[in-house]
Amino acid sequence: MLSADLQKALNKQVKIEGDSSQIYLEMASWAEIQGFEGIATFMYAQSDEERQHMLKLVRYVNQRGGVADIPAISKPDLDHTSFKTLFKQLFDHEVYVSQSINDLVHISLTERDYATHNFLQWYVSEQIEEEATARTILDKINLIGDDKGGLYLFDNDLKNFNQQGKTNV
Ligand code: FEO
Repeated sequence: MLSADLQKALNKQVKIEGDSSQIYLEMASWAEIQGFEGIATFMYAQSDEERQHMLKLVRYVNQRGGVADIPAISKPDLDHTSFKTLFKQLFDHEVYVSQSINDLVHISLTERDYATHNFLQWYVSEQIEEEATARTILDKINLIGDDKGGLYLFDNDLKNFNQQGKTNV
């Protein structure tokens, strides 16, 4: 059985993952309108992944005798001044998600809820990957600068990311 505090903290994470899905969805739609098919495809897939992260938490809370709190959909408030600002926000957001997962792990250990601690290890690993991907993308965007040709190639690289599950960006 989950403690009230842990249930509250897990439900907060449900909302964070739902918000993440919305952020990626917004970026996907924006990139699609701009004509960046690869970036859009990548972002749509990421948005789906974040929804899965949310669902996994919902199922876990209910499975442990708790009550999952389904959050309202939030409208992302993003700065679209440039690709750089956009992807910087994505990177910062993933760092924030990692911190939130760390806080959750801390609570689970403090409460000696080893089942939740075990459950959260999947998220710990996932965040290492997500942060690394966001960092790689941001580094690449920084390198490209205002080079339209570079952006075209980058867009193609991201298309391959979805096809192969990895990328050379
Ligand atoms: Fe599920 Fe990217 O955090």
